[in-house]
Amino acid sequence: MPVIIVIDDEQRQRNILETILEDEGYEVHTAHSAEKGLELIKTFAPDIVLTDLKMGGISGLQLLAALPDGSVKPAVIIMTAYGTISSAVEAMKKGAFDYLTKPLEKDAIVMTVQKAAERMQLIRENITLRNALYEKFSMDGIIGSSRRMQEIMDVVKKVAPTSVTVLIFGESGTGKELIARAVHYNSLRKTGPFTAINCAAIPDNLIESELFGYEPGAFTGATHRKIGLFEASNKGTLFLDEIGDLPLLTQTKLLRVLQDKEVRRIGGHDSIKIDVRILAATNKDLEKEVSRSKFREDLFYRLKVVTVELPSLKERKEDIPPLVDFFISKYNQEFGKRVKGASEGALKALNDYYWPGNIRQLESVVERAVLMCDSESISLADIRGELKMPGSSSPFDIEIPDEGINFEEMEKMLIKKAMAKTNNVAARAARLLGMSYKTFWYRLEKFGLNDGSQIGENNPDLRT
Ligand SMILES: Nc1ncnc2c1ncn2[C@@H]1O[C@H](COP(=O)(O)OP(=O)(O)OP(=O)(O)O)[C@@H](O)[C@H]1O
Ligand SMILES: [Mg+2]
Repeated sequence: MPVIIVIDDEQRQRNILETILEDEGYEVHTAHSAEKGLELIKTFAPDIVLTDLKMGGISGLQLLAALPDGSVKPAVIIMTAYGTISSAVEAMKKGAFDYLTKPLEKDAIVMTVQKAAERMQLIRENITLRNALYEKFSMDGIIGSSRRMQEIMDVVKKVAPTSVTVLIFGESGTGKELIARAVHYNSLRKTGPFTAINCAAIPDNLIESELFGYEPGAFTGATHRKIGLFEASNKGTLFLDEIGDLPLLTQTKLLRVLQDKEVRRIGGHDSIKIDVRILAATNKDLEKEVSRSKFREDLFYRLKVVTVELPSLKERKEDIPPLVDFFISKYNQEFGKRVKGASEGALKALNDYYWPGNIRQLESVVERAVLMCDSESISLADIRGELKMPGSSSPFDIEIPDEGINFEEMEKMLIKKAMAKTNNVAARAARLLGMSYKTFWYRLEKFGLNDGSQIGENNPDLRT
């Protein structure tokens, strides 16, 4: 039975609301002030709070801001006198569920409260589902029942509380950043900052300013002091993403910082002691980069105290069903939907797909499917269009522009391409285009493309 707290400084209003709502089957508690209301909210953890906007003491708006940070906040319905609707709108912006205007009408009350109750039930259902998933597979939202993911989570749990450097390998979208965050949030540094920098996304000439900071006048344009990421991450964790893209010169400086545990801002004279844990990730084969002298060997060994190798999604297909469930519940909550699962056909298609974009791609496929789905479960039709196969984009897949297309030009272009691909051996080019040699030769002549061509009949190439 949903629990409702009614807050109003007028006794008569409280009584009316209590009677109406109890008749509808709700458990109702009333308070004459927002202060008293907050106490009741802490005691009863209600689903819904119906509160007057203007009262002596704390107002309805202030109450909204003062709600305790529990896992589920109640849906707040604001009651406001006609003519003060703008403050009700303000309240909606601050997170109120809805508002009712006074004088109150029974039907409006019942309907609005019912809507709020449904919404709260949905939220609770999703949370239960999600908690069950967490307990089963996860560490702070990392889903993975496969043996390899379980091993990785064991490593994460073991190394997190220490300050060792961890180097994370994995293809794009396999969860490198997620693992880095898990290491940080399971460490003693978790109350300190977690900062991340993508070494591939920052131009070489800016990366050192980002990492080490600078003093005013360090270079043209340095008008003020900038604190670098190392300093900003003090007592926390710095995640160096795509470390394989760090320029060699910066690698040297980074190594020095790691060894000395101090940084010097560019143009600065003093070294600053820092206590930062480094996590790094890459989708490059760093050993190969070392052998090609693109990555410093000493830095490589300094970073890879512990390594985590994230498998691609196609190497751990047994994780697909729990991941699908996890993302369904995530996006149910986000979109206010009630999708229960995926059909057998849809699951099979998801399982058979080769997932070049790994979990990130799976997540976006499920996100879209949850949004589009208008039944209880995701069907094959909801996802099929998203699962593109390599080379499945047909050469015929061209749009005819409004101004039309020159058919002969297209034909000519195809013939030229076929000739180029076969080193001007006309007989082979004809075969590539599925034409008889005669038809092809006729076209070559027609388009004036026949010089340089070899007839091909006696060409030894053709016998291969
Ligand atoms: N095991 C997992 N359980 C749940 N969600 C996951 C898991 N792995 C990855 N994800 C989700 O997939 C998305 C991509 O993960 P993340 O950004 O960590 O990948 P990445 O390896 O850093 O990718 P990129 O190389 O492209 O930067 C994120 O939204 C993340 O939350
Ligand atoms: Mg990443």
